[in-house]
Amino acid sequence: MTNQDFIPKPYTEILENGSVSYQSPSNIALVKYWGKYAEQLPQNASVSFTLSQCRTETTVHFKKKNEDSFDFEVYLDGVRELGFEPKIKKFFERVEHYIPFIKKYHFVIRTKNTFPHSSGIASSASGMSALAMCLVAIENKLNLPKEQQAQHKEFGLQKASFLARLGSGSAARSLEGPLVVWGEHSKIEGSSNLFGTRYPYAIHENFSNYQDTILLVDKNEKQVSSTVGHDLMHHNPYATERFKEANNNLEKLISIFEQGDIDAFITLVESEALQLHAMMMASKPYFILMKPNTLEILNRIWSYRIKTGSKVCFTLDAGANVHVLYPDSEKDAVARFIKDQLAHFCKDGAYIDDFLGQGATVL
Ligand code: DP6
Repeated sequence: MTNQDFIPKPYTEILENGSVSYQSPSNIALVKYWGKYAEQLPQNASVSFTLSQCRTETTVHFKKKNEDSFDFEVYLDGVRELGFEPKIKKFFERVEHYIPFIKKYHFVIRTKNTFPHSSGIASSASGMSALAMCLVAIENKLNLPKEQQAQHKEFGLQKASFLARLGSGSAARSLEGPLVVWGEHSKIEGSSNLFGTRYPYAIHENFSNYQDTILLVDKNEKQVSSTVGHDLMHHNPYATERFKEANNNLEKLISIFEQGDIDAFITLVESEALQLHAMMMASKPYFILMKPNTLEILNRIWSYRIKTGSKVCFTLDAGANVHVLYPDSEKDAVARFIKDQLAHFCKDGAYIDDFLGQGATVL
């Protein structure tokens, strides 16, 4: 597939107004995307668990208008959110070529997250993927008679991921589940830089219903945004090695998932998380997004694992929060461990229990 495949033929249906609603979840990368080039293309392939509980629900109302322009309003939890509008405008500019109808309509975008806005959890993956699903659904109405819209599902998901990627790279991985690859990789059939694809190989039952409890260490806005962080990889002396290492790690995951080798999974996933933060520390200028409590938590997880033989492990995104990953079979024990030993390192004791999910759905 190329960019060209996502440019639609002239629309055939006429639509004055209407509305569509979709929900889409967040995801947590196991092999990280950190470094991009050209128009939101990743320097290495990444893979993530799709989550369930941390979601964005978005309704887009559309109404035909006469003049060609970008025209929209965004509401978060029912309140107009002017702060979101520059990001959405930039997104609209990037995707216009692929969904030319967006200049012909006035949009009212109503969105809400199932997780608190101030939790420090990035809502860009769930938010951009939910919006992209809505836009693809509107385009389907303009392109296809009703009875053909369902057959179009597979391409619709690809296109939504393609559009979501242009809004935020990691959003390309939120449309499906439970495991999604984004970025071309010679060992992963069907993988693409342009959109995320469902992980195509065997996943051992040890990974069924894998759990992710997100410990909210810091709820403040990050000092360095992901976009700036990605950019700094252009001058990072370790970048080329890092991109190779990420692709090697993704290849290693293939047999880990097939054999259900959780010990190897733990080593690889924790190493990926620490490499991501090592890249930040090696950037010029350097920066650190972990907080003292992040490190306290990592040390407690390591001690707990040694003491109990548990298979609990961690990963990190571009921030101070810790994702605690563990098999479903350890749910009760890890819940006690988190409550007794980790919760007090969280801001206001807050954490969110999440688990693997299947991606975006219509509401
Ligand atoms: C550390 O997708 O937030 O979470 O494409 O600039 O929007 P933009 O960046 P973003 O970067 C995510 C980085 C990460 C790793 C990952 O999710 O793979």
